[in-house]
Amino acid sequence: MRTFLALELPEQFKDEIAGVARQLNAVIDARYIPRENYHITLAFLGETSEAQVRDAIVALEEAACAVSPIPLLPDGIGKFGKSHNATLWLGIAKVPELMELAERLRSALNERGIDFDEKAFLPHITLARHADIPKTQLPQLLFPQEAAADQVTLFKSTLAKNGAIYKPLHTVKLNFQ
Ligand code: 2AM
Repeated sequence: MRTFLALELPEQFKDEIAGVARQLNAVIDARYIPRENYHITLAFLGETSEAQVRDAIVALEEAACAVSPIPLLPDGIGKFGKSHNATLWLGIAKVPELMELAERLRSALNERGIDFDEKAFLPHITLARHADIPKTQLPQLLFPQEAAADQVTLFKSTLAKNGAIYKPLHTVKLNFQ
């Protein structure tokens, strides 16, 4: 199965991100991601065997225990790819707590010999794919308020015609005081 580790987002924060997506939708033609799929990928594992899923859960438990909730600071809109076919995302500030969590998870995966996409961690929330970005200036956007994320989840991703379906396999709550 195809899996990835992600930081889940508080409901209010997702509502406010959906507000940003609505503002963008007024000016940019794209396939917008449903609100329930918003997340921050910490490590993309890709094709994973049952045994690797079990090991990834152990790695997740080990890396995310004794971790406090992670501050979420919106950091502008960015894109991957070409302007006529881009992935649009909301950037999240690289605060030390977030960068350390990704690092701990990736080290724990490495220690267990579980492969993942080694691209440097760039914290972002994908808002839309196949975006055709006009050359005109974007309107002033109302960004989400600062928040905190307190759940890390191993997700199974099933690719479907209308986008991916994510199923949580295992969640660790970040509640270290
Ligand atoms: P993206 O949103 O920037 O595309 C599930 O596919 C999640 O894993 C998505 O958030 C996706 O990021 C992320 N991801 C990271 N590396 C990936 C890769 N090599 N292939 C597919 N998804 C990847």
